[in-house]
Amino acid sequence: MGELHPDVKEVLLGEEDIRQIVGRMGEEITRDYADKNPLVVAVLRGAVVFMADIMRAIECPMAIDFMAVSSYGDGFKSSGVVRIVKDLDTKIEGRDVLIIEDILDSGLTLSYLINLLKGRNPASVEVAAFLVKDVPGNEPAVKPRYVGAHVPDEFIVGYGLDFAERYRNLPYIGILKPEVYKH
Ligand code: IMP
Ligand code: MG
Repeated sequence: MGELHPDVKEVLLGEEDIRQIVGRMGEEITRDYADKNPLVVAVLRGAVVFMADIMRAIECPMAIDFMAVSSYGDGFKSSGVVRIVKDLDTKIEGRDVLIIEDILDSGLTLSYLINLLKGRNPASVEVAAFLVKDVPGNEPAVKPRYVGAHVPDEFIVGYGLDFAERYRNLPYIGILKPEVYKH
């Protein structure tokens, strides 16, 4: 194991925790989609690390695709207004779509995406969120069918999650020190 990154205040999930969570979610998804051949969709870029792990934990026929969106926020809090930068290459009419999300905060971005995809008449659209941020008094706009873990209302990095494009490569989930992003 490498050293803890100096900008990280606390590790919430280490590599072994992550392996166990992904394994458990993979079993749940495999059971529910055994005869469905789902299209597993990751939204770039944060979800790619989770995607790479969860797809190998799903033991039924499936396909993958990617979308890229840019939200008109300040890069910190999402506004829910989303521009599609890269759309799916796959037709989803009649398909069971499973969206892979890194972290669900307000859920505004995802809620917009789900509505967009539902307009294409898929058989179903569900969400697997690796993390759900528990914000007191805030009910996310989307209820994920599969949840990895809950995290506190702090800035989370690692395992694909960034702050200003940094820290995505950390192999664990950690809390970023507030002095790194507050100035
Ligand atoms: P939402 O639309 O508010 O649910 O925001 C979801 C997106 O914001 C995630 O897919 C992340 O890209 C980003 N995000 C939200 N919270 C964090 C965080 O704590 N660390 C890093 N990215 C975050
Ligand atoms: Mg981000």
